[in-house]
Amino acid sequence: MVSAVIVAAGSGSRMQSNIPKPFLPLGKHIVLAYALQALQVASEIDEIIVVTRPEFLETVTDLKAKYDLSKLVPPVPGGATRLASVRIGIRTCSPNAGLILVHDAARPCLTQELIRDCLASARRFGSGVAAARAVDSLKSATDDGFVKASIDRSSVWMVQTPQVFRADLLRSAIGNVSDSDPAITDEASIAQVCGIPVRLVENRLPNPKLTTPGDIPLLSALLFHTDLYSPVSGNPNPKADS
Ligand code: C5P
Repeated sequence: MVSAVIVAAGSGSRMQSNIPKPFLPLGKHIVLAYALQALQVASEIDEIIVVTRPEFLETVTDLKAKYDLSKLVPPVPGGATRLASVRIGIRTCSPNAGLILVHDAARPCLTQELIRDCLASARRFGSGVAAARAVDSLKSATDDGFVKASIDRSSVWMVQTPQVFRADLLRSAIGNVSDSDPAITDEASIAQVCGIPVRLVENRLPNPKLTTPGDIPLLSALLFHTDLYSPVSGNPNPKADS
């Protein structure tokens, strides 16, 4: 079986809002609802685990009935770092999970194609991690902003979520890293530290992570003013009244 873990336990300090990013409104839904519905629609996903802050457990539970999320299991409280939250999510997955998909709640542009491609890669290579090729010119710089060198962008990728791993690999790898290690920013970093090959899956569509207030209009434009994500993605189309 395939388990999906959505991490939604951040505080969202960069959003300058009291409401954490997954619970902010975006169109007619909260941000978290987009990934939840995409994973519910994905036929290969069997269960969805949401890791969230204790004060939002009830909010997440209520989404099950609101969006008819048959795959959603009771949410679990998260940890102090993203890695701690991922660890809790992985522990909550069914022992029968053969693959585990991890996704940031703050990325609502999750398409069926991307879910499928990451799962297919993980079945074949043990891992499938969404990523986009670097398009801008890349420089390394000093702390005060002076360029030190150019970086060859031809081999540079920007890594996103979803990230899918064979469950046995991810479970053993996460046992070898500390929750407070600043070098571990995602599951791919955990795998790298443990010598597990990480296979990138090219995502040609924008998949921004809601990070600052300026990202709300960007996400709205992508989701509601293009036909890139709906209806093929299974994402709800807020223009169609529910
Ligand atoms: O803060 P950042 O943008 O890196 O967070 C990425 C995702 O990880 C968000 O969906 C956030 O809710 C989640 N997270 C978490 N537990 C934490 C910190 C972040 O689940 N302690």
